[in-house]
Amino acid sequence: MKALIASGGRGTRLRPITHTRNKHLIPIANKPILHYAIEAAAMAGITDIAIVINADSDEVPNAIGDGSRWGVRITYIPQVTPGGLAQVVALAESFVGKDKFIFYLGDNMVVGGVQRFVDEFLKSGCNCFLTLSRVKDPERFGVPEIRDGRIVSVEEKPKHPRSSYAVAGIYLYDHHIFEAVKAITPSARGELEISDAHQYLLDKGYTVGFTEITGWWKDTGKPTDLLEANRLVLDNMTPSNDGDVDERSTLAGKVVVQKGARIVNSVIRGPAIIGEGCVIEDSYIGPFSSIGSNTIVRRSEVEYSIILRDCKILNVGIRLEGSILGNDVEIVEAVGKPLVHRFMIGDQSRVEVV
Ligand code: G1P
Repeated sequence: MKALIASGGRGTRLRPITHTRNKHLIPIANKPILHYAIEAAAMAGITDIAIVINADSDEVPNAIGDGSRWGVRITYIPQVTPGGLAQVVALAESFVGKDKFIFYLGDNMVVGGVQRFVDEFLKSGCNCFLTLSRVKDPERFGVPEIRDGRIVSVEEKPKHPRSSYAVAGIYLYDHHIFEAVKAITPSARGELEISDAHQYLLDKGYTVGFTEITGWWKDTGKPTDLLEANRLVLDNMTPSNDGDVDERSTLAGKVVVQKGARIVNSVIRGPAIIGEGCVIEDSYIGPFSSIGSNTIVRRSEVEYSIILRDCKILNVGIRLEGSILGNDVEIVEAVGKPLVHRFMIGDQSRVEVV
């Protein structure tokens, strides 16, 4: 069993964060999203992993390395122009050979790993095995039609979904998928759709099984999904304290304080993670917040937010909530006259003021 992980694409719906960073490297609970996929594969005993990357950038290989820190071997496969998920699969044919493999979209997150899916797939003997999750908005996803307990069709982003399931971005295949991805043609949006490859397999009489994801699953395509994934991961953390918390501070609930962080006269109400070298002083950090390394929060309040590294949040009179800040962002009290909101903001940012 091998693993193929997709990490290409431009992440346009996550701008401006993705102007300077591949979306798969955005941290969730202070760890790049892509780590979760690699860890899941490693925990399922898979040691041969290929990651498909944008051909014009070394960012992912530089950040992830050769896989030795997870005890796996990582091969990078460049994708020159994004042409859809079925194209990603096609690029991996020589890596996969005749093995079975799991195809994991690097921006998908699932609780509890993938071992169960691998076991069920191998036991089923199916050519293709899909993981399904019940969602409120199936029209955003690949959607299966299920009759008498079997998948009879799969449609990509249908206007009129035939079930309330999304096909999650964790697929299991044998080598027949390569026949499918080579046979299909681009969709109206110009992509080789993975759902069309699944439909091809059904049409040709190959067996397409499925399992339902009973825990949570998230596709982190939009900012609100990132916040939600962050909430879910934080909720499953084990508290720990490797920092320095003074006696005037309170840590309540599941709080992780990473190495060298200093908490001074503050309240941290978990689930929350405070990154290495952070300084939190005279402040409140509320539930579902991830504070990246070396960020300083002073006389301010932050809740349900993802703050990356080296930020400064100083003397801000109103609580930051539902916010995502990139690296080196400063939100500080205005000084001098006139007393105004003063912005210095890059392309495609968004600010809400009261
Ligand atoms: C892709 C697939 C879709 C699947 C989804 C899961 O959609 O095309 O079938 O349900 O991933 O995350 P995209 O994220 O490219 O819109």
